[in-house]
Amino acid sequence: MSSVKFWSGEQVPMEMHKVRMVQRVNLKPIEERQAAMEEAGFNTFLLRNRDVFLDMLTDSGVNAMSENQYAAMMQADDSYAGSETYYRLEAALEDMFAMPYFLPTHQGRACEHIIAKTLVKPGSTALMNYHFTTTKAHISICGGELEELVSAAGREITSDLPFKGNFDLDKLNESITRLGAQNVSFVRIEAGTNLIGGQPVSMANMRAVSKICRTAGIPVVYDASLLADNLYFIATREEEYIGKDLKDITREIASMMDVVYFSARKLGAARGGGILVQNEDMFLKMRELIPLYEGFLTYGGMSVREMEALTVGLYETLDIDVISQTPLFVKALCEELLGRGVPVVTPAGGLGCHVDAGGFCAHIPQEEYPAGALAAAAFIVSGVRGMERGTLSEQRQADGSETFAEMELLRLAVPKRVYTLSQVKYVADRLAWLHENRHLIGGLKFVEEPSVLRFFFGRLAPIGDWPTKLTEAFRRDFGDSL
Ligand code: F0G
Repeated sequence: MSSVKFWSGEQVPMEMHKVRMVQRVNLKPIEERQAAMEEAGFNTFLLRNRDVFLDMLTDSGVNAMSENQYAAMMQADDSYAGSETYYRLEAALEDMFAMPYFLPTHQGRACEHIIAKTLVKPGSTALMNYHFTTTKAHISICGGELEELVSAAGREITSDLPFKGNFDLDKLNESITRLGAQNVSFVRIEAGTNLIGGQPVSMANMRAVSKICRTAGIPVVYDASLLADNLYFIATREEEYIGKDLKDITREIASMMDVVYFSARKLGAARGGGILVQNEDMFLKMRELIPLYEGFLTYGGMSVREMEALTVGLYETLDIDVISQTPLFVKALCEELLGRGVPVVTPAGGLGCHVDAGGFCAHIPQEEYPAGALAAAAFIVSGVRGMERGTLSEQRQADGSETFAEMELLRLAVPKRVYTLSQVKYVADRLAWLHENRHLIGGLKFVEEPSVLRFFFGRLAPIGDWPTKLTEAFRRDFGDSL
């Protein structure tokens, strides 16, 4: 495991890789960062990378690839149909998940599109531990509803429960009884529950969910985009699985599911996606949609080079030294922040550190988007780009009223093997300063608001001139420092 004990007794995350290619990053003066934030409409999605110091927006498509992944890209077999590259990828997936059918797609949400089109009937309900933004949008577009059945702990910011992404099984039974199994389109288990802080689901819980669904005749769909983090937590937190072979665990998970899909921008550190299916009829229904929306069946919208990188990346997911790096860095960042009084989601999960913006900016009402405001303020004081995961990331109700998020979070993603521990310490330091000066942060209001997935393109403005006051306070404390 990539963590070592120092002589002092301190347990320190240790990179089990060395850097052989680097990319320059720039830390611009705060005045320029403030101007960049204004130009980006106070939306971190609209920043240009040249203005960003550490890009912690996401771990999607931005993970460091290994030398073996790059080497594999060189042997890609370029052809529209029948590419050997495809067969290598299919074989790796079969080896890892032991599921009979595979369909390639260009990314995770494309899988959700295909799955929703195949399984969601208007008026039906999809049950899940928690939604992901794109999942919810695809189910809604197909006329479906969804219910979230995550355990009570999953909805709390702080906890010491190891598997906060678990389903509340009583609620699952209750929903199925109330709706009638025939009205449930599918039950979706999301590995490493993204929107509630990258929290894992246990094997025991998945087994129980699968059993309930199989008895009721409801398909179980597994979103394996965050499988790597979830595997790490199963192999380190769940008694029965501690130290167990990661491929065996993966196969056991897959055996409980009817459909497994993933964003290869996360799983396998490449770019693309895929759907694995147990049942031939379901596979055939989904297959019809692939050439229509994705591409021919042997590439599905992916570049052959990415498919080769993915094949190698999938195997690297089964190496605990590889997959432990992100969760250990997340833990280090969370502990550093907690130690300095900054509220974060606990226990530390995968994907990234999730700062509790509701607690951090308790003075900002939810209708003024505290998590969005914190994301903007954090960028101004540090050049670190995080992502709002709160009310801004929700969709308005049909009557135009806000859907208030259960948690207002600022996500600081930790892309796999990209940043160093000193950079992580810098993030913690600037956030600790911001926390001390949190009264200076004000709210945001929309200037341009798209109706679907508004967080991607929406433009906002600060309520009052708080960004300037923040910049002035930073200058007073840090002098000429960047
Ligand atoms: N499911 C989960 C759990 C995800 O985290 C994502 C993407 C998707 C599906 C969709 O996959 O981006 O390849 O289309 N999450 C990214 C993120 C966008 O930043 O967390 P995609």
